[in-house]
Formats: sequence, C-alpha cells, structure tokens
Amino acid sequence: MKQDIDWSKLGFHYTETEYIVRAACHNGVWEEPYATTDKYLHLHVSATSLQYGQEAFEGLKAFRGVDGKIRIFRWRENARRMARSAEGLYMTPVPEELFGRAIRLALEKNMDFVPPYGTGATLYFRPLLIGTTPRLGVGPGRDFEFVVIPSPIGPYYPGKFHCTTFIVNRHVDRAAPLGTGQFKVGGNYASSFRATEPAHAQGMDCIFLDAKYHRYIDECSAANFIGIKGNEYLTPRSTAILPSITNNSLMTLARERGMKVTRRHIRLEELAEMSECAACGTACVISPIDKVIDPEHDKTYSFGKEPGPILTELYHALRDIQFGRAEDKHGWCEIVS
Ligand SMILES: Cc1ncc(COP(=O)(O)O)c(C=O)c1O
Repeated sequence: MKQDIDWSKLGFHYTETEYIVRAACHNGVWEEPYATTDKYLHLHVSATSLQYGQEAFEGLKAFRGVDGKIRIFRWRENARRMARSAEGLYMTPVPEELFGRAIRLALEKNMDFVPPYGTGATLYFRPLLIGTTPRLGVGPGRDFEFVVIPSPIGPYYPGKFHCTTFIVNRHVDRAAPLGTGQFKVGGNYASSFRATEPAHAQGMDCIFLDAKYHRYIDECSAANFIGIKGNEYLTPRSTAILPSITNNSLMTLARERGMKVTRRHIRLEELAEMSECAACGTACVISPIDKVIDPEHDKTYSFGKEPGPILTELYHALRDIQFGRAEDKHGWCEIVS
C-alpha cells in the first residue's frame, strides 16, 4: 500500500496501485472505461492475444510539478500511436478521447500514488490493448479489452545522470523493415529478449541494426537512438523503429536551440564522427552512451564516461517542462489538478 512506499527507493519496477481502469469493445463498439481494484482478467484460453499475439501497449507518465500540480505528458501522442498499433494488428482502435478519459480516471483513482515532487519519481501508465475473442483458426478477433495499469516508478537515474554501455547485436533482428517495428506490440519485445537478456546480464543494453543490411542503426531495445555530430542532432530514419514521442520532443527542443535536426540512415561506423550519443524514451528521457561495442568487428566507439553537454542540456530542458519548472510553450502537458 502507498504508505509503505519509499519514494526515494523506487526503481523502474511495477508497484501495484489501488485501481486499474478497464474498458471492453465488442464488434467495434467501446464501452465507457471504469475503475476496478481487480487486477485479473477472466480471459478465454483461446483469446487472439494469447494465440496470435494480438496485443499492443503504450507507456506515458504523470509528473507532480514544482507547483504541486500534476502534469500528464503528451497523452494524445500515445493515444494516436496506440491507434496505429491497433490498426497494424487488425484491432479496433481505442478512440482518442476514450483513451484520455481512461488515463485521467486512472490518475484520479490513484492520486495518492503520484510521487511527491523532488523525488524524481513519477506515475507511469501502461495502457494495454488485447484481443479477447476465442479463436483457433488463424485470424484476428472482434473483441478487445483496454486496460490502463498505473505504477509509481523511480527516476531512471537515481542520483547522477550517467552513461550506459551498448552492444551491437547482429545475431538477432528486432523487427523486419516492413514488419511490426513501427508499432508498439508485445511480439517485438518478446523477439528481442534473445539479445537484450544476455546484454543486461553484462550490465549493457542493445543496439539493433537494420534487419536487411545489418549496416544502419535502427534503435535500442526500448528506446530510439540519437547522435550528435557538430551542431547536428541525428536520428535514424527506418520503417522498423517505433516513432518515439520523447525523440520527437527532443528534436523540437534541439531546433529551438539552433541545432540542425536530421532524420536519415545512419551507418554504424558514423559513430566515430559523433561527439555524443544516447538512447531516448519515456523511461529515461535520455540515456547517454559511453561506449558502443561491436564485438563481431572487434571495434569499440567511445564517447567519454560523462554525459556530453548537448544531451545534458536537452535532458534538463525536457525534465524542466515535465516538472513545471519551465514554460510549456508547446502545450505538451495536460494539467490535471
Ligand atoms: C522500441 C522502442 N523505441 C522507442 C521507445 C521510446 O518511445 P517513447 O519516447 O514514446 O517512450 C520505446 C518506448 O516506448 C520503445 O519501446
């Protein structure tokens, strides 16, 4: 229960809150979301989510700001991305406004689980969409369940903003060029475990290359890639990567700071010409990289042990908006209370 939570010790792990929010869809019609304390689904063993991976999810956060107000960051972008994932897997998309109502309800019912300002912790929401129609013949279902699972999570960097080492994996492809990499669906993550688990066991994370040529950087296991070359913010163009909302926000902030922002194919060897690079996503905002190890080519690209100045500035700029310390010029935050 919340009184047992030591906010300063929270990591990026699931901490159960009192309520989740649920809504069902049958034959294209969504019911209104409702809150429940029951965290279990009564799911048919032949549900299309279990049989054929008809499942999509999202991840977004609410922040308690310096002024005590709670801000939900860019939830409409998550709603739109989830709708694209749903369409990609032949599911009935959750309407954008219903998605918003479900997130707000999940927040209102779990207000006490929004971590206090100053702890760096936030309330994370995991929206989940699953196919529930029983089927054995291969094909999509017509019934779906939408769930919002809240969880307070700790700051990605307790203490100091620091670097992580990444390893290139040429033995596992995360997603095919015309596959589901652009969607946030469970199958992409299950298929990466063969690469990510051994990397994590060595205290590292993975960089995946494009699956066709194994030449260009695609993305990291659960984050986009960013490189800094002179005054240029570089990020991969690929049909196999997830369009990151954090990356999109950072690109705007980089442009505002006079940087050139380029999205294009990035050869792995181009790392040698970059002064800084990082992974970016909701969980970490920016995860600076100290080294990229390419074991097959016996090569290591080094960027120094400390986060570089440009990515550090962008990290703080985005955190300041999320925690209400800087003006939200782009209207990214919805203030809830
Ligand atoms: C594969 C992948 N790429 C990128 C991201 C970053 O996306 P966002 O910034 O919207 O969290 C995530 C996390 O959601 C991810 O899982």
